[in-house]
Amino acid sequence: MAEGQIVAGFLAPHPPHLIYAENPPQNEPKAECGWEVLRWGYERLRKDLSKIDYDVIIVHSPHWQTYVGTHFLGVPHFKSLSVDPVFPNLFRFHYDLNVDVELAEAIHDESKEAGLVVKMMRNPDFRVDYGTIISSHLTNPSWDKPIVSISSNRSTSYYNVDVMQEKMVELGQATRRAVEKSGKRAVLLSSCSLSHRHFTTEAEVPEDMSREHIYHHGQYLWDMKIIDLAKRGCAREIHDIMPEFIEQAISETDAGSLSWLLASLDYPTMPAELYGYGSVIGTGNAVMGWIPETAEAKQ
Ligand SMILES: [Fe+2]
Repeated sequence: MAEGQIVAGFLAPHPPHLIYAENPPQNEPKAECGWEVLRWGYERLRKDLSKIDYDVIIVHSPHWQTYVGTHFLGVPHFKSLSVDPVFPNLFRFHYDLNVDVELAEAIHDESKEAGLVVKMMRNPDFRVDYGTIISSHLTNPSWDKPIVSISSNRSTSYYNVDVMQEKMVELGQATRRAVEKSGKRAVLLSSCSLSHRHFTTEAEVPEDMSREHIYHHGQYLWDMKIIDLAKRGCAREIHDIMPEFIEQAISETDAGSLSWLLASLDYPTMPAELYGYGSVIGTGNAVMGWIPETAEAKQ
């Protein structure tokens, strides 16, 4: 069997507003428009991804929160309705997805061997979290590839940010080892925003873009700092300043998704491709990523 590899890794934020504004048939609420820069960014991501052969999407989501260890979806097929608890007016999504259970088990086993507390989630009635669903949909709306979904252990909240960082390094390395042994070509998604302070009231028309803006200049500067480092190929530095970023920008990266992605990619030194940046209810969101093969092809 040929050696598997991670063929791309993306920061793929999951505001439900992006699905709402996109009007896919699976979502009940319908919008006129909204958050175009981010949605056009995802369009460009999909265009780049369409040039790459891959077998599976692996997503780490802040909205599957497991306080005892890291969990993996372990049932081959899920079909149900996902309703955003905060925005039920925007996101009522009928999902129908397949899971690569074999690869999920392989990452589970590698992680266990590395000393992490892990568990396969075998409940067929489990409701898949909306972070996993939204990032997966925006990356691959045809849902023609299976996914592996990894929970967030929330160790930043339960222990501290340094514990989170250490665990995500282990989890990322285990993910990479499992992918390589599997012979599969995997696309990884870190399902999270950057700065995450947000509005507490909603416009009468949610997609009224005259109401959408950056929440706080200091948090915007932090987002620009992270994007600048990514564009300059300084992934290791992003890992190193993650604790300060999380504290100063109330970042959703506290869930570990981006730390896991960077570790899985072994801290790429190639420049990240920035597909788009924009605010959603004031939170900062970057759609960007690394496609190692394109870097090799250019050399
Ligand atoms: Fe979120």
